Amino acid sequence: MNVFIIGAAGKVGSRLVPLLADAGHVPLAMHRKSEQAQILADKGAKPVAGDITALTVDELAELMESADAVVFSAGAGGAGYDLTQAVDGDGLVKAVAAARKAGATRFLLVSAFPEAGRDAEPKEGLENYMRIKKLTDAHLSQSDLDWVIVRPGTLSSEGGDGKVALGLALPYGNVSRDHVAQVLAGILERPQLSRVILELTDGDTPVGDALDAMA
Ligand SMILES: NC(=O)c1ccc[n+]([C@@H]2O[C@H](COP(=O)([O-])OP(=O)(O)OC[C@H]3O[C@@H](n4cnc5c(N)ncnc54)[C@H](OP(=O)(O)O)[C@@H]3O)[C@@H](O)[C@H]2O)c1
Repeated sequence: MNVFIIGAAGKVGSRLVPLLADAGHVPLAMHRKSEQAQILADKGAKPVAGDITALTVDELAELMESADAVVFSAGAGGAGYDLTQAVDGDGLVKAVAAARKAGATRFLLVSAFPEAGRDAEPKEGLENYMRIKKLTDAHLSQSDLDWVIVRPGTLSSEGGDGKVALGLALPYGNVSRDHVAQVLAGILERPQLSRVILELTDGDTPVGDALDAMA
């Protein structure tokens, strides 16, 4: 499968690339900085340069031409209202339109757990980020694509032990980025997982078993 990854050089995306390559897929790794191309190629990807804020839908669809699936894991990372809107918000809308145009019908979105940050002092930026994430979840879920939305808890870069909690509604928690990448790769192997929103935290169930249970 050719898998077009938006945000491929990110902390989740760069973990997903080698998993897909090892499984015999072709990760088409969209990245912004020229120095990221060789790093992504070394992980088994075919690097594709592109900035989601600058590309038109037609240009993005052209880049996605050979893709069977799209994974959207890009984000402005709290870089302010305008960039959050441009990347997490408008970027997702653009990616959905481009995927439809390119015929890349399978579409996975890394979203966010709605309860994230709810135990901390409310911050305007976080509220805005959550609002945009909710709107983009709604936008994708109302498309005719074969979508899956993954809502991870707070991401950690600690290596995962391969055990997660994955479900339709879960208590909020942290999740290793390794686990997020493993779950994304596992969803692509399970076409029966379709048009569903899955919440994800670290947990007690091996990733494969958790995915099989949901499938
Ligand atoms: N942090 C959390 O606790 C949390 C929780 C739940 C969900 N999430 C979501 O999970 C996603 C993945 O997390 P992560 O740790 O992998 O984040 P990350 O390391 O910040 O990766 C985000 C990627 O998006 C790319 N990007 C930003 N602007 C772009 C643009 N204009 N065009 C194309 N690509 C662009 C970045 O590119 P560069 O490499 O060039 O910077 C980066 O590779 C985040 O985007 C966030 O929405 C985060």
